[in-house]
Amino acid sequence: MDEEERIRALRALLLRLSEEYHAQDAPSVADSDYDALLRELESLEAAHPEMDDASSPTRRVGGRPSSQFSAVRHEPPLLSLQNAMDADELREFDRRVRREADDRPVSYVVEPKIDGLTIVLRYLDGVLAQGATRGDGSVGEDVTENLRQVAALPKRLRDAPPGVFSARGEVFMPRAAFDALNEQRSAMGEPVFANPRNAAAGSLRQLDPAVTASRGLEVFCYELRAGAAPATQGEALSLLARVGLPVNSLRWHCATIDDVIEVTQRFSSQRESLAYATDGLVVKLDDLRLAEELGATQKAPRSAIAFKFPAEEAATELLGIEVQVGRTGALTPTAILRPVRLAGTTVQRASLHNEDLIAQRDIRIGDTVRVRKAGEIIPEVIGVITDDAHRGRPPYAFPTVCPVCGGEAVRREGEAARRCVNSACPAQLREWLIHIGGRAALDIDGLGPRTVDLLLEAGLVQAPEDLFRLRLEDLAKLPRFGEKSAANLAAGLAAARRRPAARILFALGVPHVGERAAELLVERFGSVPAIAAANEQEISEVAGIGPVIADSVRRFFAGGTGERLLRSLAELGFSLGEETHAQAADGPLAGEVVVFTGTLSVPRAQAQERARALGARVESDVTRRTTVVVAGEAAGSKLAKAASLGIRVLTEGEFGELAGA
Ligand code: IVH
Repeated sequence: MDEEERIRALRALLLRLSEEYHAQDAPSVADSDYDALLRELESLEAAHPEMDDASSPTRRVGGRPSSQFSAVRHEPPLLSLQNAMDADELREFDRRVRREADDRPVSYVVEPKIDGLTIVLRYLDGVLAQGATRGDGSVGEDVTENLRQVAALPKRLRDAPPGVFSARGEVFMPRAAFDALNEQRSAMGEPVFANPRNAAAGSLRQLDPAVTASRGLEVFCYELRAGAAPATQGEALSLLARVGLPVNSLRWHCATIDDVIEVTQRFSSQRESLAYATDGLVVKLDDLRLAEELGATQKAPRSAIAFKFPAEEAATELLGIEVQVGRTGALTPTAILRPVRLAGTTVQRASLHNEDLIAQRDIRIGDTVRVRKAGEIIPEVIGVITDDAHRGRPPYAFPTVCPVCGGEAVRREGEAARRCVNSACPAQLREWLIHIGGRAALDIDGLGPRTVDLLLEAGLVQAPEDLFRLRLEDLAKLPRFGEKSAANLAAGLAAARRRPAARILFALGVPHVGERAAELLVERFGSVPAIAAANEQEISEVAGIGPVIADSVRRFFAGGTGERLLRSLAELGFSLGEETHAQAADGPLAGEVVVFTGTLSVPRAQAQERARALGARVESDVTRRTTVVVAGEAAGSKLAKAASLGIRVLTEGEFGELAGA
């Protein structure tokens, strides 16, 4: 029997045992046996999240009360919710509600559906007396001691009414605590939790309350069961908060179902940024008296519905691994998948990140892999099903030669990527040209991937500098390229020569040198040739530049390609820094040594460029030499240093006046 079959068999068995216990009151196995089976199922499910099933006995925390905890009867029983999978089902729900409401006004409160587990809290004369899990809805487990360890829960309420005050809520593990817990478990060689819900359940149902205390659990309460009778759900939430119970501040009051639908659309992009996991939204009739009148079916109230988001994880077959070559020669693997529906789209490709990830997860071609899509991010392969079939397949061997040019692909120490080191590799050249034309680099109008391919096919460009030697008549001869496109591209190429030095440096595509690093380097050295001439030590001393960048910069300019390219660009009339940075000896800022800090209203490089043009010497660090510090928003240590050295500090506006004077 493989693990998947075992999961199915255990689920069926546990359901039957649970039925015997609850409905027939005639258990055929000891409680401890039931618990052992349930734990086996929990651990198998943790290893097979793709088999997640809301009806699994593990989902009904203590499908029957486990022997570890005493039983708590819920009176009235805890209902669950009906589900809506799309806007039409929400409209259908609204029609039913309004039909029953008989012209009385209907409005809704929408709350995030927290992916945790239900608890019921009972306070007696304001003191926490009992906390229980949901169990099967009628009978749950007494986890009072463990809930007393949850810092988010008050042991005593503020201004609570005398007698019983009872609330329903959700215990959950915030994502950060979940990640930290799993990291710690995997470091200790313990099995990791498949999701925050399982982690919260595992942390609450602990024999040792100290373990619960250490798990960073949180609670949101959302239903008042006894102690007060608010007229609306909005009031209920306020009341819960007023007595000191934790309540989610995120909620929406919606006058119509169209507003509700709009919230579901907006929320689907917001939910990824929340500190806790959600699996949908709960839509509740605000008028609780009307809700009471509408009543409930066997299982769920008629006045509320859960809007579920489409699954964001799916399992599918890994058909192959495609390795692409980026502009810096980095080999990036992409999973080619049997098409699968995921979060409302069909996914056929997913990121595999790098060589190590494939090795660590032991991902093999033909395996069933788990794929996740989070928000707008490209889908990624997050795991593999390690069944017998997997073990029968050969491990994946990452290529050690470039899949495009066949040149050697080497992995330098400390780098995640293996790179093709052939500087003439056509794949690298293509990506490099696209990069050069990009917005953040030389922003060349008309130089997109399609045009780059045309230029390469026509053999007009063998190296990046060839771009700037193209003549209008060369461009006009390109197939499917009109006169207008040719003129447009020619103008774009001409304009590129005047971009600021930092953008030119970024365009050179030095591995690890992003926009920010390029700005810092130009700021410190003044020009691209000065950077090329600097040694590794000098470069790594620049604040914000680490040894990896320093090593990469030195390698780039020491090698043939970088040196040649720089020489060509100078010949072609690019402004590599010197002229633009030559200080105007008689400008309004002549003699000033200026440091910019904090967030400015324009890009920092632009502000610096302007200051230099007006005669200032611009530096990146505050020293005794500095004469003016221009402080933007959220300026920090440099501002403090300026103050301690008694250096003149100006706002951006004041500096503008000084410069304009
Ligand atoms: S209201 C009568 N509100 O979702 C049902 N439930 O699928 C009252 N849940 O068992 C539930 N967040 O565990 C409600 N803001 C919220 C919720 C929420 C999470 C869970 C709860 C319930 C399940 C229903």
